[in-house]
Order: sequence, then C-alpha cells, then structure tokens
Amino acid sequence: MILARLKVLFILPFASLFLATKSELVAIIDLNANWTVTNQNLSISRSNIQLPSGVFSVLYGENILNSYNDINMRWVSLDNWTYTRAFKVSRAQLAQHNCNLTFHGIDTVAEIRLNSRVLGRTDNMFVRYSYDVSDLLNEDNILEVQIFSPVQMAKNRAYAFGVNGTTYPPNCPSDRYHGECNVNMLRKMQASFAWDFGLAAPSMGIWKSVNLECYEVAVIRDVDVVTSRTKTYWKADINVYLDFTAKEDFFGELKFYAFGLLEDPVIVKDFVKEPISRKKAVITFSQTFPLNSVIPWWPNGYGIQKLYTFNFVLNAWLSNKGPTSASPSVSQKSIRIGFRTVELVEQELPNRELPGSGYTFLFRINGEEIFMKGVNYVPSHILPEKMEDPERLKHLLTSAKDAHMNMIRVWGGGIYESDFFYDLTDSLGLLVWQDMAFASTTYPVNEDFLTSVRIEVLQNARRIAHHPSLIVFAANSENELALAQNLFGTLVEQKRFENEYRTLYLNNVVGVLKSMNHPARVPSLVSTPSTGKRGEKYTYISPDPQSAQYGDVHYFVVHQNGWNVNIYPTPRFVSEYGFQSLPRVEAWKRSMLAGENLMEIMRHRQHHPMAMLPIVNLIRPNLPLPLTKDSRYTDALIYFSQIAQAMALKVETEWYRSLRNTEHRTMGALYWQLNDVWVAPSWSTIDFYGNYKLAYYWSQEFLAPITLIVLPDSATKAINMTVACDLLEVGSEGMHVTVQLYKYNSLKPVNYTTFDVNLKPNAVLESRSFAKSEIFKNYTTERNTFMYFVLHSGSKEISSTYHFPTALNTAEGISDPALSFDLQWIHCVDGDRSFKNAYTLKIMVKKPAFFVYVDIIHPKVGKFKLSRNGFMQVKESIKVTLAFYAEECIILQKSNVVIKTVNDFML
Ligand SMILES: *[C@@H]1O[C@H](CO)[C@@H](O)[C@H](O)[C@H]1NC(C)=O
Ligand SMILES: *[C@@H]1O[C@H](CO)[C@@H](O)[C@H](O)[C@H]1NC(C)=O
Ligand SMILES: *[C@@H]1O[C@H](CO)[C@@H](O)[C@H](O)[C@H]1NC(C)=O
Ligand SMILES: *[C@@H]1O[C@H](CO)[C@@H](O)[C@H](O)[C@H]1NC(C)=O
Ligand SMILES: *[C@@H]1O[C@H](CO)[C@@H](O)[C@H](O)[C@H]1NC(C)=O
Ligand SMILES: *[C@@H]1O[C@H](CO)[C@@H](O)[C@H](O)[C@H]1NC(C)=O
Ligand SMILES: *[C@@H]1O[C@H](CO)[C@@H](O)[C@H](O)[C@H]1NC(C)=O
Ligand SMILES: *[C@@H]1O[C@H](CO)[C@@H](O)[C@H](O)[C@H]1NC(C)=O
Repeated sequence: MILARLKVLFILPFASLFLATKSELVAIIDLNANWTVTNQNLSISRSNIQLPSGVFSVLYGENILNSYNDINMRWVSLDNWTYTRAFKVSRAQLAQHNCNLTFHGIDTVAEIRLNSRVLGRTDNMFVRYSYDVSDLLNEDNILEVQIFSPVQMAKNRAYAFGVNGTTYPPNCPSDRYHGECNVNMLRKMQASFAWDFGLAAPSMGIWKSVNLECYEVAVIRDVDVVTSRTKTYWKADINVYLDFTAKEDFFGELKFYAFGLLEDPVIVKDFVKEPISRKKAVITFSQTFPLNSVIPWWPNGYGIQKLYTFNFVLNAWLSNKGPTSASPSVSQKSIRIGFRTVELVEQELPNRELPGSGYTFLFRINGEEIFMKGVNYVPSHILPEKMEDPERLKHLLTSAKDAHMNMIRVWGGGIYESDFFYDLTDSLGLLVWQDMAFASTTYPVNEDFLTSVRIEVLQNARRIAHHPSLIVFAANSENELALAQNLFGTLVEQKRFENEYRTLYLNNVVGVLKSMNHPARVPSLVSTPSTGKRGEKYTYISPDPQSAQYGDVHYFVVHQNGWNVNIYPTPRFVSEYGFQSLPRVEAWKRSMLAGENLMEIMRHRQHHPMAMLPIVNLIRPNLPLPLTKDSRYTDALIYFSQIAQAMALKVETEWYRSLRNTEHRTMGALYWQLNDVWVAPSWSTIDFYGNYKLAYYWSQEFLAPITLIVLPDSATKAINMTVACDLLEVGSEGMHVTVQLYKYNSLKPVNYTTFDVNLKPNAVLESRSFAKSEIFKNYTTERNTFMYFVLHSGSKEISSTYHFPTALNTAEGISDPALSFDLQWIHCVDGDRSFKNAYTLKIMVKKPAFFVYVDIIHPKVGKFKLSRNGFMQVKESIKVTLAFYAEECIILQKSNVVIKTVNDFML
C-alpha cells in the first residue's frame, strides 16, 4: 500500500535522509527583519522595518488609498530612500562557505552596497538579483539598498532617448489619471504610475525577501515539470535548474521523491562521474507513472484538483572523487504537481459568410473541450509589499471559484504573481492565462533593456511554469492591437515600431519562453488580443488583432446599451469585456475624510476618458435614474450602476456561452475585472474591501454549470431559450422548464406553460424560440408583462432567469411592494482568529419587487456575504442567508439592514 509508506516518508525529517554523508544543507539566512529607511537628506528615518516593505506603507500604512492622497503623497516617490540593515555572520560560517546575497525583489532602480562597497545596481522589480559576497563578508556587516525616485528615473531615461530623437509613446497617461509619465522606461509594474482603474502610487521598496545563501557548490533554484499522457502511462519531464558559485564544472546526484506515486526515490546519477556544465546547469530527466496510479488534476467544475508533492534533493561536490568527497552541499526543493494535459486547439473551420474560414481558439484539458469562464485579475493591492496578503488572495480567488470560474487571466499591467498565488490557483482549479508584464505602451529595445527583459522572463517562467493551473503565457497585453489601430500615434514611424515590437516580443520574450517549450505545452501567445497562430502570416502584427475568426478579442461597449444582446460580436474567445460600476457608499466612506464630498471624490477617481458617461449611459435607457438635482441621485447612481453592470455582464456572458455549438464556436469569456486596488469607479465585481457588487452575486448564477439562457432576438422578434451545460455527464432523469407570465403589479402569474428538456453534456441545447407576437397580446402587452423562466429537475430549481420585454423605466404597473423583513440569528461560531456570524433574512413582498438589494451597515461588519443579492422577487416570501466574520459575535438590529428596490424609484 503506497499510502502507508507515504506517511512514514513524510514524518522523516529531510535532514535525516542524509545522515550517512557528512554533507551540509545549504544555509539560508533570512535578512527580512530590522531594516531602517531614510530619505536622501536624512530628514526622515524609520526603523524596525520588516520585509516585504515599501516606503509608502512604512510612512503611512495604507493611507495612500484614502482621500486625495494619490496626489498629496506623491512627494514620497520624488525623493530617494535608503534601506539599511546590520547583520552578523558567525566566524564558522565565514570560514566554511560560499555566500551569496540574494534579493528576490527590489522595486525598482537601486544601488546595493555591502560594507560601503557597491555590489550592484538593479532596475527590474521582477528580477532576482544575487551577488557573491564571500570575499566581502565580515562578522559585522552593513547592507544598504538605495532606491531612487522611479518618477525621476523614468523621466531621465525618456529624456536620454529624447535627446537622440526617439520617443516611446504614450509618454504620459491621460490627465484624468493624475498619473506619472514614462512608466514604460522601467521594468516596474506598469499600473503603478496610474491606470484607468487605479491610482498612481509609484512605489519604492524591497518587496520580496532578502537572503544570505551560504553553500559549497550549488543550490536548486527552480524545478520545471511538464506532464503528458499516453494510452498506458503519465509522464513527467523534469528540469532541475541550479544556481552555483563554482568556478569550475561540478558533480552531483539528484534524488527525486514522488510522494503517493513512487515507493522509493529515483536517483539521477548521471553527474557523478560526468560533471554538470556551468554553461547549462540543469538536470533533465523523465519519469513515467502507470495510468491508473495517477489521479488527474481538473479545472474547477470538472473534477478534483489532485496535487502530488515532488521533492528534489541535490547533493553536489567539486572533485570527481564522488559523493564521498568532503563538504558536498545539499539543497532541496518541494513543489506540487498536477497531472493534466492541455491543448489550445486552433483548427480550420468551414467557410462562413466572410472570406477565409477561420480557426477555432479553444482549450482542451484532459481531452475535453472546456468553455473558459472567468475573469481578469489585477494585483490585489497597488503597493507591491501588500500584494501577497494571504487573506486577500484567498478571498479573491475563492470567490472566483465559488462563482464557477475555471480561468483567471493575470494581466500584463500587473506582476508575475507570488508562489502562494499559483499554489492557490492550483488547489482551487483556476487555470491561469499569464501575461508577461508588458501592457498598452511601446518599449525601448536597447541592449540593456533587452538583457534585463530576458532575465526577467526566464526567471519568472522557470519559477511558475510547473504549476498545473498555468496553461498559457502571452507576451504582452494589447500592444499588437495598439500598433494595428495606431492607438499611440505610432503610424508616423510604423516600420520602426513594428521592428521594435518584433525585436522585443518575438526575439526576446517569446524567444526566451521557447526555451521552455514542450510538445505537451501550449506555445506562447505573442499578444492578447491576437489572432493566435494565424498571426504567423503577418509576423504577429495582424491588420486586425480583434478578428472574430481567429484568436481572442477584447470588447468594450461605450456608446450602445449593454443590456441589448443584439449588439454583441461573435468571437472565438473574449479575453476582456466589462462594464464600470460604483462601489457601495460604505466603501467610499471608509476611504474619505469627514467633510469630503462623495460626488467630487468619485469624479476624481473616475479615470475613464468619458468620465461618468459610460455608467450613466448604461443606466438611463434601462432604469429610472432620478435627475441630478434630486437628493436621491448619488444613492441611485451607485445602486443602479451595480444593477446595470450586473445585467450587462449577464447578457453578454450568456450570449457568449450560447454560441459554443454554433458556427462561431465561442469557447471562452473572461470578463474585466475581478478586483480593485482602491475604492473607485471601476469594472470590478468585488470592491477593494472584498465586498461583492451585484454583478458578482449574479455571476454565481450566470456562470453556473447549468444555466438557463433567455435572450431576445430583434431580427426574428423572438425570444430564444437555451440551456448551457458544462457538465461532462448529465443524469438521464428529465428536466423541465416552466415559463410564467407576470404582470408588473401582481405576484400571481397570468399564464404559464411547461415543457421537458434533455440536457446535452458539455454543450448548449438547440435553442427554442418563442414568437413575441404569440406571447404579448391583448391584456399581456410588452409594457405590462414580463416572463420568468425556471429550469427544474423534479421539484428542484436548477436555474432561473427573467425576460423584460420593455425597459423597466417604461414598464407599466410597477408598484409599492410593501416590502418587510425579519432578521433571524442563526449562530456565531468561534473560528481561528475571528467569529463566524450567520443570520437569515426573511423578505416579504405583496407585489413583484425588482432588483432587491440588501446592504448590511454596521461599524464592526467589514465584509459580508449574502446567499444572493439584487434579485427579482415574485414570491410572497423568500429567505436570504447572511454570513460574515468579525472579531466578536455581533448582534445585528433590523436597523443595520438596508433594503432597496427599483420600485422605490418608480413611485
Ligand atoms: C536591529 O538593528 C539595530 C541597529 O542596527 C540593532 O541595534 C538591534 O540590536 C537590532 N535588533 C534586532 C532584534 O536584531
Ligand atoms: C529633505 O527632504 C524632505 C522630503 O523630501 C523635504 O521636505 C525637505 O525640504 C528636505 N530638507 C532639506 C533641508 O532639503
Ligand atoms: C536622487 O538621486 C538622484 C541620482 O543620484 C539625484 O539626481 C537626485 O537629485 C536625488 N534626489 C533627491 C531628492 O535628492
Ligand atoms: C551568486 O552570485 C553570482 C554572481 O555574483 C551568480 O553568478 C550566482 O549564480 C549566484 N549563486 C546563486 C546560488 O544564486
Ligand atoms: C543616443 O545616441 C548616442 C550616440 O549614438 C548613444 O551613445 C546613446 O547610447 C544613445 N542614447 C540612448 C538612450 O539610446
Ligand atoms: C436566436 O436564435 C436564432 C436561431 O437559432 C439565432 O440565429 C439568433 O442569433 C438567436 N439570437 C439570440 C439573441 O440568441
Ligand atoms: C397561455 O399560454 C398558452 C401557451 O403559450 C397560450 O396558448 C395561450 O394563448 C395563453 N393564454 C393567454 C390568456 O395568454
Ligand atoms: C386577442 O386578440 C386577438 C387579435 O388581436 C383576438 O383574435 C383574440 O380573440 C383576443 N383574445 C382575447 C382573449 O381577447
């Protein structure tokens, strides 16, 4: 029994596995505590600082997110700051080892000094810098990291290019962003000088750990594993990448433990007699596993996320006398692996109306074509030192899983995320589409820049590529699009920009990623959106990267009514689409000072070039927005913006889901965007404090594995109904759909009909159409009647949806629902560090209530979760559960519950 053995192996401390030899584990001394920060003229100094750290949070905590501090605190990023720390090294260590100082992340332009000697300069926050300090270490040491104003450095570099007559547009963001210029000059998170959804917080700091690594010969830095499958076995192709200080080639032996799969370690002895070349310090081998001994890893919604621990132990030595020679160094690394296959299928499709047939663009996981439902992810915080906060990451990614998502795109304007992030996506089953950190601008291609980029790409790809959740890299976000559409005025020098684009992305970024290519991996995409492999024809600058026939598209509605399904395109895969909304008033209050004006701060943080217009344009045609002078205006704007976003996202997402089996073969929809970096008007569905907007609540239904989809078709004047089913197997028991007709002023349906449906696994049903003329006649007009559709399995409701034939603000008969509610305490459970509070709300109405919105307002309730929100209520009484964590048991009063309906605004 493998399991029994496994236990034994796990309880053995690793060191004891090597007791027989006199080897020593590589010593890793963490230097993360007790730093001091001072500014250039020494007028400011703070001590006792723990890494990860950044100057903004050292001085102000999270205050930069409050009020107008994105501007008021800008001075911080115009000064230079030095991090200093003293540390001791024991005499014994000094004598025995090679020691490197390794900086896992410095943000960004810095000079590093040890005992007043310059170790080196950094200018890429995504790169790990390591210095051999064996000859510089004393027993007492002073380490200094002087970080230069990123705003100043970016400007200086742009100026240097400018003198030679070269610019890299867009030089500055739009004035509305209140941002800084030339962020493209720095290998720094591109969103840190401001973006449409976020503030400028030009950060500076040491955002990852600093270690002193002492060892004799070599250390395991990264391990890459690719899994593939044949008819009889799974195979893992493994690369173990080594870092070393050895001045000569060295020898080694690798032990590989696959817990739960192999009873004994595999010992790779190839390098016991033959040295490992310093030019290519990598140990490559393969291991097969019988098919039936492996439980495969599946994305969320398709099966379990089985993960196996692989452990690697390297024993390395310098002389060729073999492992018994003196002082070999032992280094080890553990990773978790999932066995799955992944393909990006780009197959020629038969002719459609347009010339040229087009290719599919769909992902096949473990042999199954899977519709990618998901979201775009921006960094969890604007300050790099806060991006790895485990509570925040867990909340965001678990929320994605709970909304039935199976894919998350890590956007190129952000960062390569932490190991912890990808561990979470592995265990939650969220496939990752990883952009490299280039977005929406042009970049220099001088040799220093390219060298830095190559190191960045290689280090990060090697660090994260083994994760089973990571299925595709894209070299940049929207830069092919920008060239093709002349978004930055590059047309005047089109040839130069095209050459530079290809140099950077094809020759360098993708060039480096190719070193990790494998037949079982998806080849890297050059951009998003792109035309996929069709791009080859144009050497990856296609005339139309937004083509509906090839690759992916980004699609944003600006001037049309997003509630109208008939405006949407028919792409193969939509990797960005979305709508802005406003966070709840309580969120705004938390980030404002007393006396500040809500409307003004909203306007300040609204970076959209059209300001609030897109939000208002999405509301006005659909909902009864009061006039601006009405005292309820602000409140209504916030509430309605969330309804409007939720409805538009529902309609657009359902449209894409409905197309999977049509000639369009749409197989993916990733909306923009899951999360926020501050409280602001944005496309997010979860606000900065972790509270769900209505669109998030709705997404739990419109992304459900079985979803009833009802969409009106203006051309045929019909209402199409279909059922999307993502399950790979469906039961044989029949399902049925009930269609009820309601007048806006009565809880009693005026008519109903019911019919059977048989779901198709991993497909959408043939659509069924209802002619409007058959439904809306005589007393049931399009003005006074709406439809309610429910999919049942036996007596169980599986999915439901509504159809409003007219805009709600023109509907006849919406009346006072006479809404009342009871609040019932369920429990308060003592958790780890907090208490889990739960309540039920029983909500009662006498007339149909539209978009019932429940908010909990209590000083001690930070974020909370309702079982549903923003719903239509056509039943006299329904129950909603409420859960939240707090530092104590909270007794809520009815006055802490605020319930709104659209009806309130129509009376
Ligand atoms: C922190 O650093 C200061 C100054 O270098 C030193 O005096 C102090 O002992 C250090 N504290 C700890 C806990 O290492
Ligand atoms: C020192 O730097 C601070 C912060 O940048 C600045 O406010 C102050 O005026 C400077 N003091 C001198 C004497 O230059
Ligand atoms: C920061 O350092 C740069 C480079 O040495 C220098 O030009 C600049 O004046 C310094 N800034 C301040 C505020 O001292
Ligand atoms: C130690 O630093 C040197 C450069 O100074 C580098 O070549 C080497 O790879 C580093 N070793 C490790 C283990 O990172
Ligand atoms: C500007 O041109 C000079 C002369 O060709 C060159 O040495 C320098 O590196 C260029 N500067 C930049 C930033 O490209
Ligand atoms: C409705 O169904 C027809 C026929 O299948 C189809 O052509 C049309 O695109 C559908 N429209 C919508 C909005 O689903
Ligand atoms: C009720 O629905 C049925 C089936 O759709 C339809 O035939 C009938 O005309 C409807 N009756 C009324 C009064 O609308
Ligand atoms: C509804 O209207 C149609 C035509 O307008 C008419 O033929 C039918 O008798 C009417 N039905 C009722 C129940 O009034």
